[in-house]
Amino acid sequence: MKRVDDFRLKFGKQELVPIMVGGMGVDISTAELALEAARLGGVGHISDAMIKTVADRRFNTKFVKNKLQQYKFNVANTDKSVVQFNLGEVAEATRMHVASTMEAKRGSGLVFVNCMEKLTMNAPKETLRVRLQAALDAGIDGITLAAGLHLGSFALIEDHPRFRDAKLGIIVSSLRALQLFLRKSARTNRLPDYVVVEGPLAGGHLGFGADWAQYDLATIVAEIQTWLRAEQLDIPLIPAGGIFTGSDATAFLESGAAAVQVATRFTVAKECGLPEDVQQEYFKASEEQIEVNQVSPTGYPMRMLSNSPAIGSGIRPNCEAYGYLLDASGSCSYITAYNREVAANPGVKRVSVMEKTCLCTHMRNFDCWTCGHYTYRLKDTTHRLDDGSYQLLSAEHIFHDYQFSTGNQIALPERAPA
Ligand SMILES: Cc1cc2nc3c(=O)[nH]c(=O)nc-3n(C[C@H](O)[C@H](O)[C@H](O)COP(=O)(O)O)c2cc1C
Repeated sequence: MKRVDDFRLKFGKQELVPIMVGGMGVDISTAELALEAARLGGVGHISDAMIKTVADRRFNTKFVKNKLQQYKFNVANTDKSVVQFNLGEVAEATRMHVASTMEAKRGSGLVFVNCMEKLTMNAPKETLRVRLQAALDAGIDGITLAAGLHLGSFALIEDHPRFRDAKLGIIVSSLRALQLFLRKSARTNRLPDYVVVEGPLAGGHLGFGADWAQYDLATIVAEIQTWLRAEQLDIPLIPAGGIFTGSDATAFLESGAAAVQVATRFTVAKECGLPEDVQQEYFKASEEQIEVNQVSPTGYPMRMLSNSPAIGSGIRPNCEAYGYLLDASGSCSYITAYNREVAANPGVKRVSVMEKTCLCTHMRNFDCWTCGHYTYRLKDTTHRLDDGSYQLLSAEHIFHDYQFSTGNQIALPERAPA
């Protein structure tokens, strides 16, 4: 019986364990988690989502405080178009996060950064260019373009000296999205080094509409595979979304996938950035609690636990401090929803906003518990302790379980001493 370790992800002459730990913003896929994946010979992801917050946490910088200070005069104003990111600071924060991660890298694997286009930051093109270029400057092994079609992203970095040497990939959820990306990027004369095909069971934002449940990852992967073959394009495909056991992964590798991208299993690793009380919520979750809703202001459906404190919270928009979802004209659909509730409830101190959530603030505070569909199975991957809590796992244990397990088995960790 085959297992994941019988396969290798090949980038030119380089051979890797075909396990990619997916990017999870905001700092849920920490540098520590990505570095473990790389040490074990696979690929780990950091994320540049809310990079100033991440830098402040890691390096004690004051990026967020200084931005708030600069725009404090605007806090009560409903028009946020004045709130701009300082591009030099975005570059500096990105370089710090990436460079210190790359300096700490050990082993034969790689560390990539997940870059979401939907973080429009009140100047979509300019801020994305700076984020991508700064990551390349700081020596990242590769960039995974996520949450968006990225039709112009290759062009933003085509003049960078590392454009052809860094690994560049994109996440798509349909053949059509891939075709569009390839057509629009053709002018740069460079194919992606890999394509992550993300199905409807993934965590975070989904590249599907409300009819997500009609789709199936294996079918989408097969469709893309057939088209690539017909076009004689040799691009490694990496399925993602709902791959919960080593056997799930092996089935994809046997049918021609180059690797798998996984995330949910790692949300309960010690190295993951989620606070431990939130990790316990992931362990405790029942299937009924996993929902796909429309509360993200990005416009994409998002999967999360239905008891996430972010749902229904009516906090004042925090764009002066954050503002990562402000579009090119300084709007965010949470601001619109919030203002409508405030106007409809005069005199009420704390309104509840059900329609949208302030994703920046709640991701920053780990109050939006985004998760993959199979989060309810996490309890089966560990021991329940005497106090009723679940034992956290090491990233190494989870990685090795994917790498070596067979027969749909999930290896439990050694029980922690009482
Ligand atoms: C908690 C969590 C946060 C995530 N955040 C992001 C993100 O910021 N950007 C992104 O492209 N994908 C994100 N994802 C998707 C993963 O990178 C990955 O592709 C997917 O979840 C894999 O499916 P699995 O979780 O079933 O293994 C997230 C997933 C989880 C579970």
